[in-house]
Amino acid sequence: MVLTEEDKKDVQKENNEGQDESRRNFLKTLFAAGAIATIGGLGSVGRYLTPQVTWAKAWPVLKLVPLSSINQVNIDKPTTFNYPLINQPNYLLKLGIKAKLGIGPDGDIVAFSQICQHLGCYWKPYQGGSHPICTAAGNYTYPTPFGFCCCHGSHYDLTNGGALLENDFQTPAPLPLPQVILDVDSSGNIIVKGMTPPNIYGFGPTPRLPASANPKDIPNVTQAELLEYDTFNGTLVDENTINVQPG
Ligand code: FES
Repeated sequence: MVLTEEDKKDVQKENNEGQDESRRNFLKTLFAAGAIATIGGLGSVGRYLTPQVTWAKAWPVLKLVPLSSINQVNIDKPTTFNYPLINQPNYLLKLGIKAKLGIGPDGDIVAFSQICQHLGCYWKPYQGGSHPICTAAGNYTYPTPFGFCCCHGSHYDLTNGGALLENDFQTPAPLPLPQVILDVDSSGNIIVKGMTPPNIYGFGPTPRLPASANPKDIPNVTQAELLEYDTFNGTLVDENTINVQPG
């Protein structure tokens, strides 16, 4: 078949239109791929821009020391350890008197957050009797082991779950001490396995108590909320980082 000049022009026109269509399809594909890549890229950036919020799903259960290693009253030079986060210090105390949540043969071994519930100083344990006079707290005597914070004079009852001492009008702390839940494993080691309310100082909801609350009340938090706040965005201790300092 012999093509006329008119036929050749028609064929050339059809070819050009076909190429234009191909180019359009190619550009559409390229644009779509670019858009997907951009959206994907934004997602990656978003992952870096969005702060990672974490908290523990369960309390760490960890060995502290053999029960037999604190068979004497060590309240004047207490053992310390960090829990549940690496920067949260606690006292391990053998009070020499049966105490709430106490373990051991005499039910007198307890542990508490070392951080005062007023403004975060470290309080100190006393065997009972009086404590040194410092600040405006004056002289204060109590017959059984108590915690005293020299910064502003808060007093805590160590035999009664760290409760604020009822007869002490100089205790500015709004909340009792958080107590560490202890147990003894089958090998005779003291283990830690959680905390009791309230939240550790510096953690927990703000304000810490509603304005109408009795300042000696413990906030009504669930175990899940307690765990969530106490471990919020922190680094949990484990068997390698729990730092037990014997008394
Ligand atoms: S920080 Fe402890 S009484 Fe103020």
